Amino acid sequence: MVEFAFDIKHLFPQSIIRVQAHSLSPNDAPCRPYPHTNRGQPTRSSCRLSEILNVMGKLSADAQGLRHAVTSAEKLAPDQVVYLMADKAAGHWAITGLLKVGTKDLFVFDQGGCYRRFNKTPAILDFYVHESRQRCGQGKLLFEWMLEKQGWSPQKCSVDRPSNKMLAFMAKHYDLVRTIPQGNNFVLYEGFFDDPIPTSKSASGLQATGSIRNQSQGHFKRQEHEQAQAGHGHANRNTVQNDANSGPFSKDQKTVSGTSLYRRRWNSLTFASMQ
Ligand SMILES: CC(C)(COP(=O)(O)OP(=O)(O)OC[C@H]1O[C@@H](n2cnc3c(N)ncnc32)[C@H](O)[C@@H]1OP(=O)(O)O)[C@@H](O)C(=O)NCCC(=O)NCCS
Repeated sequence: MVEFAFDIKHLFPQSIIRVQAHSLSPNDAPCRPYPHTNRGQPTRSSCRLSEILNVMGKLSADAQGLRHAVTSAEKLAPDQVVYLMADKAAGHWAITGLLKVGTKDLFVFDQGGCYRRFNKTPAILDFYVHESRQRCGQGKLLFEWMLEKQGWSPQKCSVDRPSNKMLAFMAKHYDLVRTIPQGNNFVLYEGFFDDPIPTSKSASGLQATGSIRNQSQGHFKRQEHEQAQAGHGHANRNTVQNDANSGPFSKDQKTVSGTSLYRRRWNSLTFASMQ
């Protein structure tokens, strides 16, 4: 778990909180100690939440072998949400996990060369449970909480550059095994198109537009990168470091390209993100 020099207890009325950009102080402005003084300065709480996000974002990036953090206070967009998880299992409150979600506008291509636009589809952008807590159900707890709060179902979620651990996680907890690699590193799961995208919290219209784009294999590149890293330990910055559960990834992942099962089922749909 990740400890901070300040007491985080007051930030966590329950073990998982929802953080959005408006409650952060992304820049380095000094924090005001009391809510009623120095209006315009960020509050101490927002400064601390920002620091937590920055530290956890960095740890997540390290864990995934990414050069740049996906999550930071500065990068959090107004339509994105970070779920932070904490507990006091060690006798005092510490942060144990982070899950960043948002929505993406996706283009969906069909065999005839037309493609359609799915607006505001649910997207998993970053996900991290501290190494000392992985494989204990913490990730499932956090993910389930997020699904409930967002009103999403797992098979409708696109995942930004899923790691091997993430692929195993989705397979284990949601029976989501067959992935559809995207040129933009987003992965969709079979089942994404089973029903119309819900209109209430996620989706909206379909629009026929232009031509087909090439599909690259960014997802596989990411997997290759991770596999190349297997066996090399990485040093986290916080005090409880060792990944007791790390080691070569051994799950049997099944992915499908545009020419296999998925194509048969979905009539050669291919995808690309607008962004
Ligand atoms: C992905 C992650 C958030 C899951 O959190 P978690 O607390 O371990 O998840 P749970 O305990 O609820 O589920 C455990 C399952 O996740 C998968 N998993 C977790 N750690 C794994 C590992 N080291 N190797 C292979 N699979 C792993 C497995 O399916 C595991 O089930 P198993 O133990 O029966 O094999 C966590 O492993 C993590 O932070 N990984 C590093 C960062 C990362 O890869 N993030 C994903 C970005 S898309």
